[in-house]
Amino acid sequence: MNIILLGAPGAGKGTQATRIEENYGLTHISTGDIFRRHMRRQTEIGEEARSYIKKGLLVPDEVTLKIVKSALDEVHGKNFMLDGFPRNLNQAQQLDGIAKIDKVIDIRVDFDILTDRICGRRSCLDCGYTTHISVLGGANTCPKCGCEMTQRVDDREETVRSRLQVYATQTASLVEYYEKQGKLFTVDGMGTPDEVFAEIKKVLG
Ligand code: AP5
Ligand code: MG
Repeated sequence: MNIILLGAPGAGKGTQATRIEENYGLTHISTGDIFRRHMRRQTEIGEEARSYIKKGLLVPDEVTLKIVKSALDEVHGKNFMLDGFPRNLNQAQQLDGIAKIDKVIDIRVDFDILTDRICGRRSCLDCGYTTHISVLGGANTCPKCGCEMTQRVDDREETVRSRLQVYATQTASLVEYYEKQGKLFTVDGMGTPDEVFAEIKKVLG
């Protein structure tokens, strides 16, 4: 089974992807994580992506499709989960031509909660562990490996506004796109991460 995790920025796609990967063995493909790895390594793709990401805009489809095709080649026929892709109609149509998708899970969270979730997110520079600043209790070190926790370049309030706007104008229509294909499942993302995962398990069986 191949799935897509849909949902606005901060809806909890990455948080749930970790649980789904552990419990269902689906390979996690996050376009945002791939771009961030390229940015850390200062590759050509990373430098181009950075100029869009720091403004909260979508990276051009041509670049995004290239990294997705390459990630899909690397899974060698294993089942996968896409997180953060597709993000507009063109990406969804292109994906239909290269892979078979079985289920699309849309994680729904009220927009007014998303800004706090995203602006409070801190990520470990070393192991990639992500949490909310309220959980860290004033500490700046990763609870998993002890390395420094930082804020993503696109997690500042002004950029978050632009990301939410991009979601509303370009990505939200994919809900209808997948509903028409009979693949859409909606999950309430307002509970705790474990409660949200319990809902996802009902969808995945
Ligand atoms: P990407 O990295 O995909 O970011 P995003 O979609 O904006 O989503 P986030 O990663 O911010 O949120 P999430 O849903 O994963 O939530 P998380 O679990 O972390 O993309 C970044 C950028 O890359 C884009 O803006 C774009 O520029 C570019 N890009 C990526 N894909 C692209 C594409 N296909 N085309 C073009 N450009 C692309 O949780 C968020 C916070 O909330 C955390 O602090 C977490 O601890 C907390 N939290 C999670 N769940 C809960 C819960 N149930 N209750 C309370 N808190 C929770
Ligand atoms: Mg994410």
